Amino acid sequence: MPFTDPVVILCLFILTLIFMLWLKSGWDSTYKNFPPGPNPLPLIGNLHILDLKRPSKTLIELSKKYGSVFSFQMGLKKVIVLTGYQTVVDALVHNADQFAERPVIPIFEIISNGKGIIFAHDENWKVMRRFTITTLRDFGMGKRTIEDKIIEESESLIECFKSHKGDPFDNIMIINAAVSNIIVSITIGHRFQYEDSTFLRLISLINENMRLAGSPTVMLYNLYPVLGFLPGNHKTILQNTKELNAFVKATFVEHLKQLDKNDQRSLIDTFLVKQQEEKSNPQSYFHDENLTKVITNLFTAGSETTSTTLRWGLLLMMKYPLIQKKVQEEIAKVIGSAQPRTEHQKQMPYTDAVIHEVQRVANILPMSLPRETTVDVNFKGHVIPKGSYIIPLLESVLHDKTQFENPEEFYPQHFLDSEGKFLKKEAFMPFSAGRRICLGETLAKMELFLFFTSLLQEFTFCPPPGVTHVDLTPQVGFTTCPKPYMICAMQR
Ligand code: HEM
Repeated sequence: MPFTDPVVILCLFILTLIFMLWLKSGWDSTYKNFPPGPNPLPLIGNLHILDLKRPSKTLIELSKKYGSVFSFQMGLKKVIVLTGYQTVVDALVHNADQFAERPVIPIFEIISNGKGIIFAHDENWKVMRRFTITTLRDFGMGKRTIEDKIIEESESLIECFKSHKGDPFDNIMIINAAVSNIIVSITIGHRFQYEDSTFLRLISLINENMRLAGSPTVMLYNLYPVLGFLPGNHKTILQNTKELNAFVKATFVEHLKQLDKNDQRSLIDTFLVKQQEEKSNPQSYFHDENLTKVITNLFTAGSETTSTTLRWGLLLMMKYPLIQKKVQEEIAKVIGSAQPRTEHQKQMPYTDAVIHEVQRVANILPMSLPRETTVDVNFKGHVIPKGSYIIPLLESVLHDKTQFENPEEFYPQHFLDSEGKFLKKEAFMPFSAGRRICLGETLAKMELFLFFTSLLQEFTFCPPPGVTHVDLTPQVGFTTCPKPYMICAMQR
């Protein structure tokens, strides 16, 4: 019987309804102090009140009524939302182990199959995370080796910007390519030319997946995976993932041919050496599937996030020319015409504050990545059962009124004291916190400082002639991206 048969659809509907009623009579009544939340409707739960394009906005509104720990029925799934700096820190940092898991999310299970790092579970996650952090450090993350790579890359990026001779252009692919080259050179061992067709294809596959993963139809697929047989964006994501995986596999097969244990040139080489060392262990996590997923995880997490932040940075500089000018004055004072290096950062509080404020306002992962509780947790007067789907609402931390005086404005003074010195804010959490905190934080921060200062040393950014309004409305996607925009890079 085909799945599109109306009888099958009706049966599925009834089954889901029964499941829903079972669920409704579940946790809320079993656990006396289960977090409060709006009353759900059968089947759809609270989806009718959720802005599917900007779900974080609805959740922030609800926290005003239900408090900083509340429940929300996403279709068949009960989720617990944590809002505000204090609550998110109490959960992710002070109860780190209890909130350390990732839930099973249908689209990411298709992509990762529980392997790699980002959507991996239990021991597989621990082993792959530990291996990746150690190897990234060995290849120079946070050190001069990577700094030199970023500087070399920013020179290529500047040349590319210059070639537009001040005419308007769209910077998405160029910035993406420059940023991707850093993680690609660590994982694969070489950089690509910006016009390389394979490289451009990989970037567009990653970008398309990021955009589609946050689309309302994929959100619905995650909530009702039984409807997966219907056409939709999840099918495109699956197709793109197959192509990405095939590229990674072909790459490591090439590396295997020339593998030299004493001359490991990339993360792939180090993984393959480890794989050979553990050959006789059938329980080893160093298998081909984990290699493929770790590499695709790093490509995806390590390129789109940082390049999206940089693109927000340039857009905000166009919007606020006086702030741009002040950054350029500080660059002139501290660096002059020399090459920007990380050691300059501590002498440049204003630029540092602007970059932090760009990240705060860009808010590129407003709902972070979901977590799952590993045990029943007594938390702030509530019981959160083991296996609960947790949303740590980073947007509510980055916009917490108790931590930032003008949360809705672009206001670099948030990160400056009265003497103009850099002011560290604990609520600055775009990389999240706790056991699953972004493992690329050091790399991303170095990239943001070096690319941003190098570009502003060389150019002044402004909107195309005749454009008077710089639009900061974000585009719908898994990460919060600016809408595509045209920019003029005027050489200084
Ligand atoms: C501006 C840039 C970036 C931002 C804002 C960002 C943000 C985040 C956030 C919010 C998470 C979720 C953490 C959690 O669940 O608590 C995350 C996870 C992750 N990020 Fe980043 N990230 C950035 C750049 C990078 C880079 C450059 C890399 C690669 C080297 C990277 C690799 C990862 C990985 C592998 C995870 C999963 C960690 C785990 O599950 O253990 N990220 N990131």
